[in-house]
Amino acid sequence: ELERIPHPPYRVPLLGDVVGASRHTPLQDSLRLAHRLGPIFRRRALGKEFVFVAGAALAADLADESRFAKHVGLGIANLRPVAGDGLFTAYNHESNWQLAHDVLAPGFSREAMAGYHPMMLDVAARLMEHWDRAREAGRPVNVPGDMTKLTLETIARTGFGHDFGSFERTRPHPFVTAMVGTLTHAQRLNAVPVPFLMRRAARRNDADIAYLNRTVDDLIRARRESGPGDGDLLDRMLATAHPETGERLSALNVRRQVITFLVAGHETTSGALSFALHYLAQHPEIAARARAEVDRVWGGEEAPGYDQVARLRLVRRVLDEALRLWPTAPAFAREAREDTVLGGTHPMRRGAWALVLTPMVHRDPEVWGADAERFDPDRFAPQAVRSRAPHTFKPFGTGARACIGRQFALHEATLVLGLLLRRYDFHGEPRYRLRVTERLTLMPEGLRLRLERRTAAP
Ligand code: HEM
Repeated sequence: ELERIPHPPYRVPLLGDVVGASRHTPLQDSLRLAHRLGPIFRRRALGKEFVFVAGAALAADLADESRFAKHVGLGIANLRPVAGDGLFTAYNHESNWQLAHDVLAPGFSREAMAGYHPMMLDVAARLMEHWDRAREAGRPVNVPGDMTKLTLETIARTGFGHDFGSFERTRPHPFVTAMVGTLTHAQRLNAVPVPFLMRRAARRNDADIAYLNRTVDDLIRARRESGPGDGDLLDRMLATAHPETGERLSALNVRRQVITFLVAGHETTSGALSFALHYLAQHPEIAARARAEVDRVWGGEEAPGYDQVARLRLVRRVLDEALRLWPTAPAFAREAREDTVLGGTHPMRRGAWALVLTPMVHRDPEVWGADAERFDPDRFAPQAVRSRAPHTFKPFGTGARACIGRQFALHEATLVLGLLLRRYDFHGEPRYRLRVTERLTLMPEGLRLRLERRTAAP
């Protein structure tokens, strides 16, 4: 069955196609292969065969929940030592997935989101104070660094009542450094056979994991001592029983969920905001339209209300379009529930799986046209969305295991983009060319912007 799927010509035993591939940009490497090899292809690595899906039609078929489910493989499986059976890394058959999903889902209801909104505004205000100081000093701002401060503080405040003090630090919080370390390590494990990995790297990874555990254990202990907060995610994790079974999360599982949410809840949103700001700086005409929308919808009001965020339709399309070109969680894996035939041509045995390369699916000319590489938020105008095939835009994954934080991320990012557009004109550095770093997630490397304060802005 595999024999019919194309693969690169150069194959070496054991290391396979990984030789010659960059260890630092495995995803972008696979994208280059996809351009050559088409909608489905395979690569050999570490003596195993991996199937990649790059075409929109095959990806849409994999979204059929009756035949396929999430597969915990490759990068995600490598995170099991950190996140265990936490929501993101749990196997479908682990009972803690359903338990945590049911207990935590109400934390993302409309009502809960409206409760987070004032805290999101507070954190955004701290970002803007930080940016005002840079602007006054004539310094450009470090976009990915500052977006990471913003999104980490936002998830920590709203979910856990915790303050990492990111804006008061010149260097990233050690939590971020340890997280980046473990994500990078998990990514490397896909490319380098374990016995070849330097002992030093493995030891550093153990130290990073220990640091993450210590940080969240302190945070949990503080909450147990202070008593419940205002019903945030941590309260739910510690005190909420399953509505039907009455079961609660174990102490070990709570630790894993806190790490999961602190990491999943900020890293990808930070990338999404950074790519969106990059494209806005590259496309002043689109930035001007988006600014005009913010001025029209929000007017001079100091703090936009919860309901005013979703009214920024164009700003939201800018975000969608940034996530189309650079979905910051750039791949997800799907496995066959039973023996089946993918796309009517590729037989798959039960348990066989394929990795969906979301950036390729999002650039398939069959769906997005010959100019799929071009940044154009109008692709997400209602009419255009209605006329597109379903399951062709998947930045948040698919099915039962799709992103639980989707509304949270979209609300936060739309709010922040709106606030930044209203307050500043921003300019990219003339010589900047987009370079994308990978640590399982994607981030525009070295992106800096120069700011000008708009005179009319509140
Ligand atoms: C799952 C993307 C923001 C928490 C996922 C998945 C994707 C994704 C693709 C599915 C992974 C898979 O199938 O293996 C994103 C993107 C985000 C974002 C692009 C921002 C732009 C967030 C936020 C939170 C969050 C803000 C929490 C507040 C989670 C969790 C899961 C998940 C817990 C696992 C869900 C489950 O399996 O039940 N995300 N995410 N994410 N995400 Fe997000």
